[in-house]
Amino acid sequence: MRTKLLVGNWKMNKTRAEALDFAKASIELLKFAQSKQIQIGVTPTYLSLDVVKHTNPNLIVGAQNVNAKESGAYTGEISIPMLKELGIEWSLVGHSERRTYYAETNHTCNEKVLALLANKMTPLYCVGETLGQFEAGLTKPIVEAQIREGLKGVSQEDARHLVIAYEPVWSIGTGKNASKEIAEDVCHFIRTILKDLFGGVSEKIQILYGGSVKPTNIKEYMAMPNIDGALVGGASLAVDSFAQLIENIG
Ligand code: 13P
Repeated sequence: MRTKLLVGNWKMNKTRAEALDFAKASIELLKFAQSKQIQIGVTPTYLSLDVVKHTNPNLIVGAQNVNAKESGAYTGEISIPMLKELGIEWSLVGHSERRTYYAETNHTCNEKVLALLANKMTPLYCVGETLGQFEAGLTKPIVEAQIREGLKGVSQEDARHLVIAYEPVWSIGTGKNASKEIAEDVCHFIRTILKDLFGGVSEKIQILYGGSVKPTNIKEYMAMPNIDGALVGGASLAVDSFAQLIENIG
């Protein structure tokens, strides 16, 4: 049995003061989630990582991005040792907004995934097709390339520490969430590729759905056998809404 996981991706939202308010409230949210055997986490901006982790050390706190290099002349970037110094053990990799606006590729994602795993961190690797690709029937080849190229060179042993999120780009922030059938079909497909790559370990890897997940629709995804949780943007920002997501996740 895979543990259910709910991660709130805050994107470029919340000042440190606002993040602190949420972090204080998250102590109760975490108790609530633990009572239901659900893992929860958030990915604040870099500037709020320490304030959230310090306020609620047991919450999963992840970065939204990381540079694969340890240090050097890379203006504006943040490295793995910098995250580890703050006690941060997770990072998103390859969110579609980073692929779209910051030219991230499966290759650069692969470098990040390998660097995170080498440092005993958890990459939350995001994949998903654009609207044009969806309409052209290309979802599976696109997602397969994202998985195979993004996870190239990952050992079976390290694969245990992976988390995958399927986020169709057309469903992010649009209110047009993928149906539970589409989401399950793609998450099942992802698991078959993971099985090909990592054998039985694939059964242990959590696969999340993301894209316009709300308290009102989270339950339907959780009923699907290959969807183990959700990566939530907008609906993860307010404490009440986060609490409702936990309530309705199962
Ligand atoms: P929304 O939940 O706001 O659609 O965002 C999804 C997302 O991109 C989470 O990473």
